[in-house]
Amino acid sequence: MSGRDARVTVAVLGATGAVGQRFVSLLDGHPWFRVTALCASDRSAGKTYGEAARCVLDHPMPDWARDMEVLPCKPGLDAHLAFSGLDASVAGDIEVAFATAGHAVVSNSRNHRMDPDVPLLVPEVNHTHLDLLIEQKKRFPGGGCLVTNPNCSTVGLVMALAPIQAAFGIDRVIVATLQSVSGAGYPGVPAMDILDNVIPHIGGEEEKIESESRKILGAPGKAAGFAISAHCHRVHVSDGHTLAASIKTTRPASPEEAVATLRTFRSPLASLGLPSLPERPVIVREEPDRPQPRFDRMAGAGMTVTVGRVRRCPVLDLRLVALVHNTIRGAAGVALLNAQLPRANGLLG
Ligand SMILES: NC(=O)c1ccc[n+]([C@@H]2O[C@H](COP(=O)([O-])OP(=O)(O)OC[C@H]3O[C@@H](n4cnc5c(N)ncnc54)[C@H](OP(=O)(O)O)[C@@H]3O)[C@@H](O)[C@H]2O)c1
Repeated sequence: MSGRDARVTVAVLGATGAVGQRFVSLLDGHPWFRVTALCASDRSAGKTYGEAARCVLDHPMPDWARDMEVLPCKPGLDAHLAFSGLDASVAGDIEVAFATAGHAVVSNSRNHRMDPDVPLLVPEVNHTHLDLLIEQKKRFPGGGCLVTNPNCSTVGLVMALAPIQAAFGIDRVIVATLQSVSGAGYPGVPAMDILDNVIPHIGGEEEKIESESRKILGAPGKAAGFAISAHCHRVHVSDGHTLAASIKTTRPASPEEAVATLRTFRSPLASLGLPSLPERPVIVREEPDRPQPRFDRMAGAGMTVTVGRVRRCPVLDLRLVALVHNTIRGAAGVALLNAQLPRANGLLG
């Protein structure tokens, strides 16, 4: 038996940030991926990762990462895949440069999510949107590509809505979010602003939830037609975004029917053996006071969305609360799953 490591080589762009650190943690000992480069800004390049990354996770960084030298975000690295957790102010150009140079880029940043030829993926919900890569190949003839995942709140919302849409159709949605501080990255929101407080504004977030949800729940290249209104709030929680949604369905749906539909929702990808796929994409809790971030964000190792309080809405039809771990299912975890999906389908080589 040869000792050759057959895992796909990967770079993490924005490796020092909140999402980047989550990537490094989830890639530690990964059966399919091997990290060959950790990249960040010129402020960090040349330092070891241990020096450059101010640890924001509740467990130590892996030893192999601590001693790696942080590299600038320049294409041509020894890495087939590039996972991006770059700040949106720079992600757009850097990600295109990597895709142009032949890297497969799997991004968390908002910059290319709404490009018509870029899949915006939550694999259990819309893996068929990967077909957009066929059109995208014209843009990147060197073999690179761009795949994105949505905003962290959108991931939780669409995972709760997808089974309801499939069973009953969706006419309109109103959603209010309670988003954790880690969603703002590091150092994020100043302590003086968030302690003992709720901030009823997160720049651009409401628009992202509204447009991204429709792209994901529509057909490839054709957004879903339902109306959606989002209200976003930053709250004093470390990790985990809570979403309270009211939904008008196109066909009648009782809360009991909605619960049964959510409970039977299974990933259409279960047979592919993808390492990051949780056993259950969504679980439903019966207790009147769940989900709660502290207790439910790590369901399915952070990859399962927890839904609770499914009940009748006196204005629309249904109400529910959903909880998503924002840096795992809402960011690095879903990106890892996205990268496994095209690999499973042979699109990333
Ligand atoms: N946090 C979440 O829950 C979440 C969820 C979904 C999506 N996202 C998106 O994911 C991306 C990263 O978010 P985050 O929360 O991890 O942010 P963050 O903690 O602020 O990290 C940003 C990263 O970008 C790097 N960077 C900044 N300027 C750069 C430049 N000029 N050149 C190269 N690298 C540069 C930083 O490197 P230095 O350390 O060297 O400055 C750092 O590694 C954002 O686009 C965000 O919107 C975040």
